[in-house]
Amino acid sequence: MLIQAFRTFWQRSLLIFCLASIAWGAVSLPAYAKVDPYIRNYLQVTDPVPVVLNDRGETRSFSAENLIEGKKLFELHCASCHVGGSTLPNPAVPLSLAALKQATPPRDTVEQLIQFMRQPMTYDGSEDSLLCREVPESWLSQSEVENLSGFILRAAEKAKGWGSTNF
Ligand code: HEC
Repeated sequence: MLIQAFRTFWQRSLLIFCLASIAWGAVSLPAYAKVDPYIRNYLQVTDPVPVVLNDRGETRSFSAENLIEGKKLFELHCASCHVGGSTLPNPAVPLSLAALKQATPPRDTVEQLIQFMRQPMTYDGSEDSLLCREVPESWLSQSEVENLSGFILRAAEKAKGWGSTNF
């Protein structure tokens, strides 16, 4: 009697647990499956967004998928020094829009950022940077560096605390 009551209790609990999991999955899955939470909440991207392409003010549209790829590349290859858009080995030169804009030459557009990645220079543009990581075409393709640049510029524009020098 007691064993049976115990068994039905567990059977019921298990059933309720399964139903609750399915219901939760149905409610929450589509939203999460659609876009990476960082891209959606911090960069405010679900539909394609424009990012400045060059110093003539032209823009290029980046989809959430493009920016998710850019974020992955950034995390893999850049974040060890540039976590949250800062620059750990040289905190005075972060990846904020203001810092990128004031660099020589400026680096606040997709094309200029790609040019920098192909040949990283010091902040005043006078010599090759010995610390930043050079990205040759044999390593990341044009479309990969475009998505990486799109991610950096969108983050610099939208993400709170990106490129902070206070840490
Ligand atoms: C080993 C550390 C390191 C890694 C890894 C690294 N960087 Fe850098 N990066 C630096 C340093 C240091 C500077 C500042 C320039 C200097 O002092 O030479 C810099 C500068 C920059 C700047 C210029 C910032 C400005 O305000 O002008 C950009 C853009 C940049 N890095 C992008 C990248 C990207 C994209 C990656 C990944 C592919 C990357 N960096 C990987 C260390 C690194």
